[in-house]
Amino acid sequence: MRADRLEAAKRAAAERASALVRSGQVVGLGSGSTMALVVEALAKRAEGEGLRAEFVPSSYQIQLLAIEKGLRIVDFMGVDGIDLAIDGADQVDRELNLVKGGGGALTREKIIDAFASELVVVVDEGKLSDRLGIGQPIPIEVLPFALPLAIREVKRIGGKPSLRFGTGKVGPVVTDNGGLILDADFGPIADPKRLEAELKSIPGVVETGIFAGMARRVYVGRADGTVEVLER
Ligand code: A5P
Repeated sequence: MRADRLEAAKRAAAERASALVRSGQVVGLGSGSTMALVVEALAKRAEGEGLRAEFVPSSYQIQLLAIEKGLRIVDFMGVDGIDLAIDGADQVDRELNLVKGGGGALTREKIIDAFASELVVVVDEGKLSDRLGIGQPIPIEVLPFALPLAIREVKRIGGKPSLRFGTGKVGPVVTDNGGLILDADFGPIADPKRLEAELKSIPGVVETGIFAGMARRVYVGRADGTVEVLER
């Protein structure tokens, strides 16, 4: 998809989802480029209609942007609940299982999304897939000390892992939690929940980018500005 059409599709989903936020709510913010558009839309509502909510960020990326846009940030440790989490995704299957972690923020995203009373996902139509894993590696955050074990075990259960390297710094990507990221190609995944559990059982694996059974609603933006809402 052309860059301007992709941006229009993401913006359409972002604006629809940001309209769900109500004053007084505590709202979790995922990370990534679509979430950046959600933050923009929320900032517009704060300025235009006086929306007053508190936001829990999942990464330095979204935290810095939210601060720049004047949103009120609260620390995850300081909240006793999250009313709504809005998050992006790299891939969405028919059951609304997700692959996340393209931006390396999967661990905090999963913690926030799991704590929220409701998780709403915002994607462009290009993220939809019949099965997770088709042309999409699974990000896995690992403790640096555990790297050789994690690589061996991911291979043992059928994945082809590669260590994620960054741009702007030599060496591997280091996450906001001090972890490393393996991107593991498993091909089409028949049972995402099972693979998620298998990966989580490897010592030193902090979190996986498979979010199985967590999303109830996905806002799918299209380049013409329309939004399809998928629910389960
Ligand atoms: C961040 O680590 C990810 O989970 C993002 O939510 C995901 O990569 C989607 O990002 P984009 O909105 O930039 O495609």
